[in-house]
Amino acid sequence: MQTFLHGRDLIGDLDFTKEEVETVLDVAFDLKRKRALNEPHPYLRDKVLAMLFFFSSTRTRGSFEAGMAQLGGHGAFIESKSTQISHGDTPKEIGEIFGRYYDGIAIRHVDWGIGNSYLNAVAKASRVPVLNMQCDIYHPFQCLADLMTIVEKKGRDLRRKKMVVSWAYAASYQKPMSVPQSLILQMPRFGLDVVLAHPPEFRLMPEIMEQAQEQARKFGAGFEVTDDMEAAFKDADIVYAKSWGAMVHTPDPEEGAKIIKKYSHWITDEKKMKLAKPDAIYMHPLPADRNIEVTDGVMDGPQSVVYDEAENRMHAQKAVMALTMG
Ligand code: CP
Repeated sequence: MQTFLHGRDLIGDLDFTKEEVETVLDVAFDLKRKRALNEPHPYLRDKVLAMLFFFSSTRTRGSFEAGMAQLGGHGAFIESKSTQISHGDTPKEIGEIFGRYYDGIAIRHVDWGIGNSYLNAVAKASRVPVLNMQCDIYHPFQCLADLMTIVEKKGRDLRRKKMVVSWAYAASYQKPMSVPQSLILQMPRFGLDVVLAHPPEFRLMPEIMEQAQEQARKFGAGFEVTDDMEAAFKDADIVYAKSWGAMVHTPDPEEGAKIIKKYSHWITDEKKMKLAKPDAIYMHPLPADRNIEVTDGVMDGPQSVVYDEAENRMHAQKAVMALTMG
């Protein structure tokens, strides 16, 4: 068990080894139990986390902020537009200065081609851990909560279980591709056979695909890609279907929005869920476009675990914060 994570950043999913992710899971389950028993666990007394947001959030803000308070510290919510960033504060200033005020710097910056570079530039200048609250490439804390939820529902031995990571239609906006990219990187390390399904224009980043294939080979798991949503759902143990944008195909958001419209039949509904195993679980990181991306019947149905998934954000994040900032 690798326990020394003090001072470490978590920006990409592979920043922590599989053994270190196992440690995060163990600590997360322990913290979930402690909260259920109302047992105090102030591992970060007097510590403060800067939470810098360049994009809106419900779950990420709520779970980091509540998590820091439960650990005896404080999460400081900072909207980028309320800072001097637009008047000249560079990532170096943020890393250097926030690193002197705070004990950790968490950042959400999902702008395509910008977010991940921004986080890495802050981390280079920071003396304290930088935590990725979602960038254009990765959403590692969502993925840790997803893994925790899968272990709760399917057990710790996930070998030969089939997980579908599918694109789904959504009309609201071109969503980041960070969730599917984090899933295909992390889940094969835990033995899940991953099937990635998407229409041709919704390819993920080639370098992430290569890394996912490498992880699957290394850990003896399957990794397949298809453009057939129904075929992908067949006999699945875990269905994870969400929308993302066509940014790899075209950087033009208007063209991307036009392409999305062609695929309105890529909705997760009761008929498609019947193709999966009877005890399959349905997952989504939320927010979802209800009755566009997924029907109410599936989202609120017996196979849906979306609220456990959202809750586990807090426990997984508390584990990483306690291990890296303690
Ligand atoms: N899943 C997730 O990251 O939710 P928010 O965008 O509400 O933080």
